Amino acid sequence: MNCITYNQETKVFSLRTNQSMYQMQVREHNTLVHLYYGANIGDTEVTYRIVSLDRGFSGNPYEAGNDRTFSMDVLPQEYSGYGNGDYRINAMEMEQDDGSDAVHLRYESHRILPGKYSLEGLPAMYGTDEEAQTLEITLYDRISNLKVRLLYGVFPNLDVITRAVRMENHGQKRVAIKRAMSMEMDYQNKHMDFIHFYGRHAMERLTERLPLHHGVQSVESKRGTSSHQHNPFVILCDQMTTETQGDCYGFALVYSGNFRCEIEVDQMEQTRLVMGIHPYHFTYRLNPGDVFETPEVVMAYSDKGLGRLSNIYHDAYRSNLIRSKYMNAPRPILVNNWEATYFNFDEEKLFNIACAAKEIGLDMFVLDDGWFGKRDSDFSGLGDWVVNESKIKGGLPKLVERINGIGMKFGLWIEPEMVSEDSDLYRAHPEWVLRIPDRSMVRSRYQLNLDITRKEVRDHVMNQIFSILDSCNVEYIKWDMNRSVANVYSAALPADRQGEVFHRYVLGVYDMMERLVTRYPNLLFENCSGGGGRFDAGMLYYSPQIWCSDNTDAIDRLKIQYGTSFGYPISTMGSHVSVCPNHQTGRNTPFETRGIVASAGTFGYELDLEKITPEEKEIAKKQIQKYKEREHLVQTGDYHRLTDPFRNTDYVVWQFVSKDKRESIVDGVMLKNEPNPHIHLIYLRGLDPSTRYQDKKTGQVYTGAALMKAGIPLPVGCGDYQPIEFHFCAL
Ligand code: DGJ
Repeated sequence: MNCITYNQETKVFSLRTNQSMYQMQVREHNTLVHLYYGANIGDTEVTYRIVSLDRGFSGNPYEAGNDRTFSMDVLPQEYSGYGNGDYRINAMEMEQDDGSDAVHLRYESHRILPGKYSLEGLPAMYGTDEEAQTLEITLYDRISNLKVRLLYGVFPNLDVITRAVRMENHGQKRVAIKRAMSMEMDYQNKHMDFIHFYGRHAMERLTERLPLHHGVQSVESKRGTSSHQHNPFVILCDQMTTETQGDCYGFALVYSGNFRCEIEVDQMEQTRLVMGIHPYHFTYRLNPGDVFETPEVVMAYSDKGLGRLSNIYHDAYRSNLIRSKYMNAPRPILVNNWEATYFNFDEEKLFNIACAAKEIGLDMFVLDDGWFGKRDSDFSGLGDWVVNESKIKGGLPKLVERINGIGMKFGLWIEPEMVSEDSDLYRAHPEWVLRIPDRSMVRSRYQLNLDITRKEVRDHVMNQIFSILDSCNVEYIKWDMNRSVANVYSAALPADRQGEVFHRYVLGVYDMMERLVTRYPNLLFENCSGGGGRFDAGMLYYSPQIWCSDNTDAIDRLKIQYGTSFGYPISTMGSHVSVCPNHQTGRNTPFETRGIVASAGTFGYELDLEKITPEEKEIAKKQIQKYKEREHLVQTGDYHRLTDPFRNTDYVVWQFVSKDKRESIVDGVMLKNEPNPHIHLIYLRGLDPSTRYQDKKTGQVYTGAALMKAGIPLPVGCGDYQPIEFHFCAL
């Protein structure tokens, strides 16, 4: 494999994937300058793009002598430091022991290595020598003796380039890293749009597209998790870019804690994007010899619009980020008891739901919150991971055996990062929570964040959970996290290390999850944080699915799942059929429609199956059967957003196409019906134009070209929220 080259004469690095190219150059005074990221441009090195002019009020480094045209303030760079005359947003900031905070990063050396680099204790894409190559460029700050190693992982067949940074203190004195972004991307004169995914609890990853403006714009989380409010995945695209045409760039941070993505359009109409750990409450001290590694960013480029960009991410995560054996295997279709019972259940009720689930063809029963400690409400019990025998008489092994006995698998909910004040754990170890000395605490859902920066706390919690998992046949775990991190102070760390707590918390989560998946490799693991409050690429390294939102309303889910699909595979989105009127919105939708929406995800049910009507049972049986027949498309196919639910308020339609283009499903929801209706034509994508496809329902045959260019009419139905469903197979 030779996808990374270095031209000794011109000092240009070229990184190539099948459809993209990345160039940078070591230039005057050993400055590492960014030249290009975009479509493959052959063997031309675009060094000529750098045009240097004397710019007023943009200073010149001393070593440039009398050359007033060389200024860090306008040069596109690979990784800029603070305090060297570059007044834009920077990738890194460091403070030396003497209080000075400048950093002048200069190229020192580089290495090209087989395979993909890995990061200590952090999730990251992985790749064999056949799949990936690594470039490590070492930058050096002469005064502090800090080495900054820029890491690039190039996956030619996946069309992605990953980036991360390793900082090493080779000096004699301690330094404090105050900003350590994972990457920087400088564009010359690009007028682009910024697409990001914002929201709130129960309404996550809504889509917003805005033209970039002068100055700084950003998205971020300071909540200790990646958050419901902003997602650590963003897109920059040309202003004319659509789903099917135009240039676009994706940036996904593989991290589950505080983050910031900043974009600045500067005085010269240049754009700089930096992404990484949020500098808020972040100071990482490096003693001589110490190393700090940033989390990774996965970058992708598409010149075929946003649809192609999404499919690059879907493929990359499915093959080289998610490690679970379930990634491409059929997943058990589950029923979860949360919306059926909340905290109010006993073992008979649970068993009866499991029996009703078996009757309609489900595979697994998941016992949600409320099975442990004194957990009768959200006031108490977190931290006491022992079964509540007053609710589950005879204990968990007995219940699991009964459920297994009727041919159903069993899954369990946990929330290991938390403790209730009313719990045995808190009574025994009040010092095991994050708490700022002498201050009253910020509570949320009456629970506190355990100080999982401490190994003894992680050990205690995981050992309790392991003894539950060892005692019975649990085949699935839902790991929840139901508050933002606050009271950020660890009694176990000295005063000058408190700026590390947020990051150490995330490392603690990763350590606990790593222990879980290593000890139980066959477990199906689903992440959750009050729904989708931690829906990020970092979590996908541990779990192949994440509960997408606490909002199970099929109509709201159209927007939530649409936004999520830009950066994440469809099979990672936990999505369930729930009862109507919906518990979050009070809305009524047909049972069929709820099934169609939930099957654009990791399918399941979340309602009291004992209470559904015989007609609904029959529909559910068919939904389950159908999902099993089509699951391979959700798991391995290409995905196309045929409509935008933020613009088209009449209907929402999406499509899956198998990689061999032999099969496709088109699903959707008619949002409203009108008298004397318009005929809506939808245009399919990703088919082979000359192949003949048969509609499995009507038997009608079309060429792929007809389906894509002439379109097909949507059914004219009656009533709001009617399902749309087509299934095409190649003849
Ligand atoms: C929040 C989750 O998103 C829900 O699905 C449920 O597990 C509750 N927590 C339980 O407390």
